[in-house]
Amino acid sequence: MPAPTHPETAITSTASHIAAALAAGVDPDLDAAIETWCERQGLDRLADPHEIVARQAAFNTLLKSTLYERYHRQGRLPEFPADPRAAFETARAETDDPAFSEYVLDRVAGVVETDALADLLAARHDLLAADEPAERIGWLFESITPQSARRKLGQFRTPPAIAELMAAWLIDDGDETVLDPGMGAGALAAAAYRRKQEAIDQPPLADIHGVDLNDLAVVMAATSLALLDHGGSHSLRVGDFLDLDPDDVGPVEAVISNPPYSRHHELDPGYKERINRQAEATVDGTVSALSPLYAYFYYHAADFLAPGGRLSFITPSEFLETGYGEPLKRFLAAEFDIRALVLFDRDDDSKFDEALTTSLVSFLEQPDGDPSVLTRIVRVDSEPSEADLLAAIDGDREGETDWGFINVVPQADLDPAEKWTGLFDPLDVETGDLVPLSELATVTRGIATGQNDYYCLTRDEVDEWNIDERYLSKIVRNARRVPGYDYTPEDWQADREAGHEVWVLYHLTDLDADAAGIQPTETGTDRTLAAYAEGTDDETNEADSGIVDYLRHGLSEEVAAHDGYLARHRSPWYVVDRRDLPPVVVTYMSRGGSRFIENRTDARTLSNLHGLYFDVDLTDAERRALLAYLNSEFASEVVRRSGRTYASGMDKIEPNELEGVPVLDPRGLADEAVDELAERFDQLRRTAREDGDVDAAIAAIDALLTDLR
Ligand SMILES: C[S@@+](CC[C@H](N)C(=O)[O-])C[C@H]1O[C@@H](n2cnc3c(N)ncnc32)[C@H](O)[C@@H]1O
Repeated sequence: MPAPTHPETAITSTASHIAAALAAGVDPDLDAAIETWCERQGLDRLADPHEIVARQAAFNTLLKSTLYERYHRQGRLPEFPADPRAAFETARAETDDPAFSEYVLDRVAGVVETDALADLLAARHDLLAADEPAERIGWLFESITPQSARRKLGQFRTPPAIAELMAAWLIDDGDETVLDPGMGAGALAAAAYRRKQEAIDQPPLADIHGVDLNDLAVVMAATSLALLDHGGSHSLRVGDFLDLDPDDVGPVEAVISNPPYSRHHELDPGYKERINRQAEATVDGTVSALSPLYAYFYYHAADFLAPGGRLSFITPSEFLETGYGEPLKRFLAAEFDIRALVLFDRDDDSKFDEALTTSLVSFLEQPDGDPSVLTRIVRVDSEPSEADLLAAIDGDREGETDWGFINVVPQADLDPAEKWTGLFDPLDVETGDLVPLSELATVTRGIATGQNDYYCLTRDEVDEWNIDERYLSKIVRNARRVPGYDYTPEDWQADREAGHEVWVLYHLTDLDADAAGIQPTETGTDRTLAAYAEGTDDETNEADSGIVDYLRHGLSEEVAAHDGYLARHRSPWYVVDRRDLPPVVVTYMSRGGSRFIENRTDARTLSNLHGLYFDVDLTDAERRALLAYLNSEFASEVVRRSGRTYASGMDKIEPNELEGVPVLDPRGLADEAVDELAERFDQLRRTAREDGDVDAAIAAIDALLTDLR
């Protein structure tokens, strides 16, 4: 065996022989074929395309001889013969591997004597020993083909860390069939294949399907995969992915792709029109003719996925904010669970040496049942580990991290007509001059009765049972009762008239000193209460009989209000949590974030609303200024970043979490600023009542906050 030679050296030296032979003149037929090749590959843009063609031809021969050697070591082909072209012909026939098909680069290599290829053939041993064959082969291709030429077909390889991440998310049990459209040197296909190998120890592994317009890509990817040493069967083909019929591949569980980024003006007008028509048929709507090629890959790839299948693409992020991106965003939001969109920081070129633009990796799933509700919008500023990124994509983390930011957004809130790029950096939140809310106020959960349908009463129930109102407290029953930003005595009256539950059993400690310690008997009837009801226990029983009847009703078997978990831990069972009247009521179970509502009534709240109590003296205007701040989009963003508001779409922010939220201290503001903020809060209240544009009123608060900060 000849001593291994470095592939780079071998390619360069062999290419110089080939280039010299080309310069000396070749037959017109080959000359024409070379010209077509150069045109398709974008090499015609170069000063001396033949030099690059010569290098590619040498590289192609190196790859094929490496692949041949691999088959040979598996016992599937005889020892490498003297003549490479004859060797590849035999290999094509014996193995049926399309990577051995002859094409123009084989003919180009054929212009030199076999002897001139000796170094190249020796270098195959070096390549066979490569640790990361796809990365090595992809790098070799890029080092021999100038970037300006590669732009034509969008030939840029995926960095290994990103390929690994995409594959790790896509491959689960290893049984997945994978499609890699535009596979190039196979960086993604190889990453997916390695994951499959890790998941399943023994072949046969389900197929990897790949397609690329470039014949050389099929040779590169076939070699990359073959060197992974598993002998799996793959189905790689030369062709236009957009012409590939899904029936020719069959449904796949995973699509992994770094599609070509070629811009619309790089595409032939006739071709462009055809693929645009095809995409419009898929989406059943308009697709912008300004779309770059990767958009068409998205539309077409969706047709290959099996239900529940996953797709991950790496592309530029421009479509998130350009006009042509709108139909694509609409399509993705309609067809997929958008699990995550991960943006790799535009300034960080360590991940993408040659990328021309920002890189966005999508993680999509074809819904097979209920669609997921949340999308993780992840911005990567530095170099997180794969585990960190997977945790972010799968929803185990949220908010600011030491490597970036994770914004969790309900997918339904992703409006295709809007720019999505803002979601990666929603606001420039600078909280340095703010104080924790706990410095100004305490937040407390409302009353937990344990059985609201018993403890909460409508006007009719109060009348029916003849319950004296002195035993009751008014309540704000739930967030639906307070759609705006204040709750007034008139609102409460209206709720009462409308038959809503507006009371809770509350002032029962005053019922009677003796009654306070009573407990139900084993038969479920309370002796002291019974005595009340029968009028044998107390002189005042006339006025109390209604409430006593109702409490006895609570002890009945059908209601058993004394027997719930909370009631059993209370003494007496009917005396619920004590709460002061909250001047501010906070909604926390609603999708759009919390609302901070001025409570102008003497109503308490149940545990579905929090109460906010001021701990410091604030003027009326200062309180309303604080409410303006708390209801601003800026504050929502601060809350969102502080933790877990969207963790499950309707998640709750706990009182202690709210107390930690940074807020503007109105006492530190000039009087005019306080008055102006208070006025904007009033404007918000009025707008909500008039069913007006609440978003605009909130935007007005944010505008003022920006001026103040
Ligand atoms: C950005 S590269 C990605 C290469 C490789 N998958 C990787 O991730 O490193 C895009 C690839 O798509 C190929 N390509 C361009 N247009 C294509 C088309 N219409 N159909 C199939 N492949 C195409 C290019 O030849 C190139 O190999």
